[in-house]
Amino acid sequence: MDLFEKLAKDRGPLGQHSHFAHGYFTFPKLEGEIAPRMIFRGKEVLTWSLNNYLGLANHPEVRAADNEATARFGLAYPMGARMMSGNSNLIEEFEAQLSDFVKKEDTMLLNYGYQGIMSVLDAILSRQDVVVYDSECHACIIDGLRMHLGKRFVFPHNDIAKCEQSLIRATKLAEKTGGGILVVTEGVFGMLGDLGKIDQIVALKKKYNFRLLIDDAHGFGTMGKTGAGTAEHLGVHDEVDIYFSTFAKSMASIGAFVSSKEDVIEFLRYNTRSQIFAKTLPMPYVLGNMKRLQLLREKPELKDQLWAITHALQNGLREKNFNLGKTESPVTPVFLTGGTNEGTNLVIDLRENYNIFCSLVAYPVVPRGVLMLRLIPTASHTFQDVEETIYAFEQILDKLQSGHYAKSEIGAPM
Ligand SMILES: Cc1ncc(COP(=O)(O)O)c(C=O)c1O
Repeated sequence: MDLFEKLAKDRGPLGQHSHFAHGYFTFPKLEGEIAPRMIFRGKEVLTWSLNNYLGLANHPEVRAADNEATARFGLAYPMGARMMSGNSNLIEEFEAQLSDFVKKEDTMLLNYGYQGIMSVLDAILSRQDVVVYDSECHACIIDGLRMHLGKRFVFPHNDIAKCEQSLIRATKLAEKTGGGILVVTEGVFGMLGDLGKIDQIVALKKKYNFRLLIDDAHGFGTMGKTGAGTAEHLGVHDEVDIYFSTFAKSMASIGAFVSSKEDVIEFLRYNTRSQIFAKTLPMPYVLGNMKRLQLLREKPELKDQLWAITHALQNGLREKNFNLGKTESPVTPVFLTGGTNEGTNLVIDLRENYNIFCSLVAYPVVPRGVLMLRLIPTASHTFQDVEETIYAFEQILDKLQSGHYAKSEIGAPM
């Protein structure tokens, strides 16, 4: 078969819906300043879809820092990969600030989270090593582990008894191969909002010899007393051997970092292929991220406000009998019962008649018959936004339960 013929026949699990979803459910365009109220298809909508947790995206000091750095450096400097020609004092200074904040000996800046963590996994794992990881880990971890030539054991999401069983098997195997064991999980799981049971995994260190890596993309800046993340929140920060986060969520930017012991980071600097063979981040990202980190550290009121909005939204929805699953973080999943067509009509109603924009997750990401709306509260939302949303959700639940969405004609108003 011709390769292009194959692509035309099978568009993939998401691509198969593109003919009616594109521009509305997939690839929607939210325009205007990044804020709770944005423009969708020419109309203002109340937006609950952006991981701008602390509201930093449009903070005046952030915008000023981004602009100043761009005026001073443009987007080119530094040129080349860091190892060859693209290093700078400012990058090293930023790394030192990150290490100080997450209380690790050293840090390496990464161009992007996805490719960064894939490549970190690739760098630290040899064929002899064994990996034990949570089944709900983000695609970047799964893809990183695809490159691992040795054995890996997956345990069902947050099932620590099964994690221990995997560790027993991994220990036996590693004894034979002479390799080490890496456990990988997340701080906050971005779909369900529940926390990785990092404290319970850490407790297993008493019985088994392994190193622990966590991806704290959604926990960095939102969890813990100082905002240093989920392990700080659970009181086990020191026991996390490798700490990773992206700047794409609470920092509202681009880039990522990995922190650990000095010699581990030194190893990573010389072995992480996605950084060795790619241009370093332009200086506006470095300086812009530095400003964001400063605000994250010096303005705890941003995190307090995020949590005030989170509690108002989650408590309000729970009081109206919505099922929010096991979330313990700002990520707010709302589980409903219905088929994909009902979900489609419900989201159209929510967007067109209540002016609320949030994401719908349907089968196969959640089981058949389950619909999940995912809301991301931020420090920029107001209590009025929360009230408006809870009111709209009550209405759409009534309609869903009365069969209204099953009857309506399907199709986005495109
Ligand atoms: C858990 C998790 N890890 C990693 C990433 C990838 O980070 P980036 O957007 O910086 O590539 C994401 C998504 O942004 C994420 O949700």
